[in-house]
Amino acid sequence: MNIKSANFIISNTDVSKCPKEPLPEYAFIGRSNVGKSSLINMLTERKSLAKTSGRPGKTQLINHFKINENWFLVDLPGYGYAKVSKKSRKTFQKYITDYFEKREQLVCAFVLVDIRHEPQKIDLEFMEWLGENGIPFCIVFTKADKLKPKVITQNTSAYITQLLSGAWEEAPHYFITSSAHGSGRQELLDYIDTINHRFFEATNR
Ligand code: GTP
Ligand code: MG
Repeated sequence: MNIKSANFIISNTDVSKCPKEPLPEYAFIGRSNVGKSSLINMLTERKSLAKTSGRPGKTQLINHFKINENWFLVDLPGYGYAKVSKKSRKTFQKYITDYFEKREQLVCAFVLVDIRHEPQKIDLEFMEWLGENGIPFCIVFTKADKLKPKVITQNTSAYITQLLSGAWEEAPHYFITSSAHGSGRQELLDYIDTINHRFFEATNR
C-alpha cells in the first residue's frame, strides 16, 4: 500500500468526540517512550505528523490521523509512566480503556513493546485485558536497530514462548520494526491493507 495522504484530524480525551465516519482504524498503544508516535511517522513517511520526544509522557491525548482518506491511525498516550501524577494517571487509564471498550471502528490494536526488554508485567496485563474484551491485537516490537539480528530472533522467540506458557493458547501476530531504519514498514502496511479490504467487503463498500 502507498500512503498518498496522511492528515491530522482531531485530538481529545473523550471517545464520543472521535471522528464519526465508519472507517477502519488502528490504535497504537504501549509503554511511554516505546515509540508509538515515531512508528506513525515512519509508516506515513511524515517526519512530524505525530509529536515525538526523548522524554516519556509526550502524547497525552487520543489523536486521529486520516490516511488515504479511508482509514485512521490513532496515536494514544503511553501507560506505565511513573512521573505522571496519580490523578492524571487515572484519567489516562479511564479514557484509554473507554476508547478501547467503546470504539466500534477499531479493527486492530498494535501493542508496542521495546525489543530490548523482557516481557513487562504491565504489557502482559494490557494484552490480557484486550483479550478479555475481545479486542484483536498484534504485537509490534520496536527499536530493532538497537540489537543485532541474532539477539532480535532470541528476544522475540523468548517473548512469544513466555506468552504461550502463560495466558495465551495461540501466539498473536507480531512485527519487528525500527522507526529509525524504516524496517517492518511494508509488512505492517500490507497487514493493514488486508484488514481494510476485509472491512470494506464486509460492509459492502
Ligand atoms: P509517549 O508519547 O511519551 O508515550 O512516547 P511514544 O511511545 O510515542 O514514543 P516516541 O515515538 O515519542 O519515541 C520515544 C523515543 O524513542 C524518541 O527519542 C524516539 O526518537 C525514540 N525511538 C522511537 N522509535 C525508535 C526506533 O525505532 N529506534 C530508535 N533507535 N529510537 C526510537
Ligand atoms: Mg507518543
